[in-house]
This record gives sequence, C-alpha cells and structure tokens, in this order.
Amino acid sequence: MNIRCIQLVMTILSAVFASASFAQTAEIIRDGVYRFDASEDARLHRRPSISMVRQLESSGEFDTENYSLVPTFTQNEEGRYVASINIESSTSLYGTGQVAGPLLRNGFVTETWNYDAFGYGLDAQNLYTSQPWVLAVREDGSAFGVLADTTERCEIDLRNGITFRGVGYQFPIVIIESDSPSDVMKELAELTGKIAMPPRWAIGFHQCRYSYNPDSRVKEVADEFRKRSLPADVIWMDIDYMNEYRVFTFDPEEFPDPTELNDYLDKVGFSNVWMIDPGVKAEEGYFVYDSGTELNVWTSTVDGAVFKGEVWPGVCVFPDYLNKDVRTWWSGLYKDFMAYNIDGVWNDMNEPAVFNVESKTMPEDNIHHADPELGGTGSHARYHNVYGMQMIRATREGVVAANPNKRPFVLSRANHLGGQRYGATWTGDNSATWEHLDMSIPMTINLGLSGQPFAGPDIGGFAYNGDGELYARWMGFGTLFPFARSHTAKGNIDKEPWSYTPEVEATSRRALERRYRLMPYIYTLFHESSTTGAPIAMPTFFADPNDFALRSEDDSFLLGDHLLVSAKVSPESDRVSVLPKSINGVEWAKFDFESYDGGRDSKDSDLPDLYIRPGSIIVTCPVTQYFGDRPDQRDEITLIVHLDANGEATGTLYEDAGDGLEYLEGEYLLSTFKAVRDGDSVTVKIDSQSGNMAQIDRKIQVRVVGN
Ligand code: GLC
Repeated sequence: MNIRCIQLVMTILSAVFASASFAQTAEIIRDGVYRFDASEDARLHRRPSISMVRQLESSGEFDTENYSLVPTFTQNEEGRYVASINIESSTSLYGTGQVAGPLLRNGFVTETWNYDAFGYGLDAQNLYTSQPWVLAVREDGSAFGVLADTTERCEIDLRNGITFRGVGYQFPIVIIESDSPSDVMKELAELTGKIAMPPRWAIGFHQCRYSYNPDSRVKEVADEFRKRSLPADVIWMDIDYMNEYRVFTFDPEEFPDPTELNDYLDKVGFSNVWMIDPGVKAEEGYFVYDSGTELNVWTSTVDGAVFKGEVWPGVCVFPDYLNKDVRTWWSGLYKDFMAYNIDGVWNDMNEPAVFNVESKTMPEDNIHHADPELGGTGSHARYHNVYGMQMIRATREGVVAANPNKRPFVLSRANHLGGQRYGATWTGDNSATWEHLDMSIPMTINLGLSGQPFAGPDIGGFAYNGDGELYARWMGFGTLFPFARSHTAKGNIDKEPWSYTPEVEATSRRALERRYRLMPYIYTLFHESSTTGAPIAMPTFFADPNDFALRSEDDSFLLGDHLLVSAKVSPESDRVSVLPKSINGVEWAKFDFESYDGGRDSKDSDLPDLYIRPGSIIVTCPVTQYFGDRPDQRDEITLIVHLDANGEATGTLYEDAGDGLEYLEGEYLLSTFKAVRDGDSVTVKIDSQSGNMAQIDRKIQVRVVGN
C-alpha cells in the first residue's frame, strides 16, 4: 500500500469515526437510579452485568428533559466508545477504584486494567483492581455516582467532567442520585453487593511476610507476639510453604505437617491464612495439573491450544474461572486443603500476572468459555478485569463447602467492581517509603468509595526496608484500617514490631492495643457495612459534605461516623489535618486511652490523633491479645461518650458469636445506647435492642470526654 493509499484509508476512517454520536436511551431502574445506553441497538445488545448482584430491570423510560447529567455517547477518532457527562466545575470526584495519588480525583486519568504493578509509583494509571465508577459530590453536599458497566479496559478521564473511554463494547452508564455521598455508596452496594460479615478473627491484626519459613519460624513469630503482649489474631503463609510453588501442596522439608502447625497456632490464639495462586505448574503427575487437564479447565489461546505462561513455579497453565465447571473443579480442590485446619485463603497474582512478557498478563486474544450468564465465550481482553473476581468467587465457594458452618475469609489482589461480595482486597506491592505511607490513606478510602470497604495496604511497605520510624508511624494508623496487615518482601529485613528499637515496639503495641480496645466499635462497623453497604474507612468530608475545606483532606479518615483518625504522614509530622467544624458549637473531642494505661498512649507522638464526633458513643473493651483469649471477653465494656449541644449522645454495639452463621438466624444482639446529661451527671441507657442472643451480664463503664 503506498502512502497516498494509506492517507485515503485514514480519511475514510476518520470520516466514519469522527465523533459519531448516538441517540441515547434512558431508563428508570428505581427511584434515583437511571440507566443510559448509547442507542436502541446498544440497549438490545447489552451484555449481562458481572458487577451487579442481579441484572437491573427497567421500570420505564426516563424523561431526561430536565436532567442535567444525561451522558453523551460518541465514538472517537480511534474508534473508542466514549460516554461523557458534563458536571459543575465545583463538583468533587472520588472512587475510580484502587488509585495512586491523592483522594480527590479531579484532573486525573485512570485506566481499568488489572495489573501486576510491583513497586508502583505515585502516578500509576492502573493497579491491581478495576472499578469503573466515580462518586461525585456537588458543592451543596448532594451527590451522585456514575458507573460504566463494562469489564473491558476503560479509561476514566476526570480532567473535564466525567468521561469513560471503552474499547469495543457500547457499555451502558448507570447513574445513582442521592442526597448525600454515603447514601450513594449504600445504593451502589445494593446494586453491586455488600461484604459478608467476616469471622471476627479477620478483623484483628494480621502478621505476614514473604515468607515465614520453615514452620518453626511461623511458630516462633506467633510465640513472640504472645511473649511480648502484642495483640494479633492472624499469621500468614506466603508461597514458600508450597512444594516448589505448586499450589495445594506443602514443602515436605519445611512444612511437613501443616495440620500440626495450624493446631499449634490455634493453641496460641492465632488463626492462619495460606496463599493459593492461579498459575498451576504444567507438569504431568502433579494432581492439580492432571485433574485439570482431564477436565479441560485451562484457558486457551486463540488457536485452541492450552495457554502456557511463566509464574513462580515456572511454566504454568491457568484455570478458566469464567466457566462454571472450572469453578466447580477449583472449589473442589479446597476440600482437602482446608482439612489441614486452614482458616483463610489468600489468592494472589490473579490479574492474572504472567512473568517475562511485556504485557505482564496473558494475551488479550486468549479465549474464555464464560457462562452464558456472564456473557458467553469471549476474549481475554473482555474478561481480563474479572478473572481475579471469578477466581475468588470459586475459592470462596470451595472454602464454604469445606467448612459450611464457618464464615469464609478470602483475600484477593485483583478484583472488579462487585467483587467485594467474594473477598477482601489489599493494595498490592507498595513500597516502604513516606510517599507510600502517605498514599495508603487515600488509596484505602477510594477503594471504600468504589464499593470495597474491606481493604488496607501492606503496613510497613512491601518493597524495600524502610526504617523503624516509618514502620512505627505506619503501624500507628495502619492498625485502624478495616483490613490491618503488616507484610514485607523476600530479602528484606525482619519487620515485626520488635525488629527495630524498644520505642518502635512500644508504639506498635499501643497502636495494636488501640485496635483491640476499639474492636466492639470496629466489629459493629463491619456489621453495618455488611447490612447497609456503608464504607468503613471514609473520607473526613463525610462528616460534613457541605464543608468544602474537607473535600481534599486525606491525612485523616473517619473510621465509621463517630471516630476521626488524624495521622502523621510526613517524617516531620508537620502537616495539619483540616478538622470538621464544630456541630452547634460543640467541637469534635480529641481523646486517647490514657486513663487506661497511665498516660503512655497520649504521649506517643507517632500515634494518630483520635477525635470523637459530638453526639457519639464509641463502645470499647479492655485490651485482649486475640479474639477469644478470655473465656468471655465481653464481660466488660467502656462507653466513650461525647455529648452534643443538647447534652445527648448515641452509639450502637453489634455482638454475635464471632464466627458461624447463627447470627443469620437471629443469634446476635444489636444495642443502641443513649446518653443524656442530667445536671452534673450523665445517664446512659440501652435505648433499644434487637436480636435473640442472651443478654450479657457485664460491667459497663462510662467515660465522658470533651465537655
Ligand atoms: C506478590 C504479592 C506479595 C507476595 C509475593 C509472593 O508480589 O503481591 O504480597 O508476598 O507475590 O507470593
């Protein structure tokens, strides 16, 4: 083809593509939830949604005459499908999944393409999970959310309004309108799913490294936590427990008896989580490979051959989790695995990561034999972003089938909008630097604002060593994230609380003790999130969406509605968080736990400042070393009370057995406490109670702070 010829083709192409626009259609799903398609044709060919709990049903046409957020659908010069929404320039934008950089996303471009981003930088455009979703907060505090319902690679461009650029599919846009940002998040959870109530141990502190091996080292670390009275609930087994990285096997030398190890951990009060990756070593005679091959479960190339790629064990094959039969086979593998007294499962590398190829993943033209309900057979490009989500769906099913009376816990690196219903997420391979420490707050919050409340970073940083000061500071506030786990890479120095100086250990202990004192409150937040879909760690502006000064505040975060955590994220601690304004003349009250421990908590400048909202009661308990370390650790609670301008405060407490499913049958107790100022004293009563669990006879202390 000569140059003139190419030019001619290009002119014709651009004539076809130049901003072709579509006559969009608009439907009402329910009050405040609308769906838009690019055209009647796009509506007819709409794919099933993988994010939604159930397919959205239209309840009629939406008359958009007076609606300002109607998306404009076009096809640009590159042939990409574009949906754009004009917004007021004063609108603040959040969410967009797991993102590097600040909390406020105005001016940023993100791409949904799950990516193994080891050591990612501050300007990374795509990370491990994909949530094509934007939470928008108007100047007056009212809010809306915009969801591009596509699993394909999609650019979220927030430089000028809200623009989604997909690749091939004319995806629909769903808009949620509500009075407040938290109501938008609850509606998103109604559509895409809530987290299930986790076992209580999973809400404790998790200690991890790549890797604790051999098994004696695992025991040693667990023992050391107990010896030093450092509260923790969980210890993790990274890939070195496996026999040469073959999933579902154990190294015969280093982990010869996993049941014995797990039983030992149980005795010292540690739950255990073990890693399983998707890459299965392609090796005849290895039972996972053989059984998978017999059932033809592997993802294939476009030519129909089994796709092979390298990961930890060398050349691997990859289950096609988009297919129900494959998921059933994968779930079945957990029966024997969980029988080693395994408590929880860690699914990693499930973007899926592939070594030694530029794309770091499998070819986009690989084929997935997806179930008809997921959209049927299609390319990897189409299903890449939900590969990890479907993997943990299968894992979860397997874990539940193995232990039907226990609550499952699954952690996943890759995920997609809606995947919060299958597992928790951590923020992948961050680095032991002050920038990453700083960024871990907005990243965790934006994941929460993208439907995934059960999230947190590798506390202490994964790549590189960092120093004791960084570790202490990160433990200070990291222990208050919904998912609180310390982790570090192979070859790094030891990163346990005692690995640095006695001061670092002391700060870590105080930080851990704070989490364990706050456990009744945090557990209640998980209950609320699992029932209402509310985020757990929230941006500070949720305290007052009208206060514009809070919109970009990301050194602090709210843990539930009542508690503000103001972290010190710079080495000099010289940054000051913007605090929410007083409420009817009453300030948020700074408090600490000094009355419990003779002042040592309040004097630790590495710990974040804690504030309680006027009108709130926060339920705390004495420090425990792990869930269940006393026969009845609920025999004592302390209510931290901060009265509002009317001299009143309320707070809730959710309690259940901490594991098992009886809570679904009513075996729980949900109590609302109400405090009222009465002259010089404060009276606290149980205002209401629901659930069938027996009343607990216990000592209740009341501590009034602030006024
Ligand atoms: C990946 C994970 C990391 C893990 C390592 C070895 O890099 O993100 O957390 O430790 O693999 O399994």
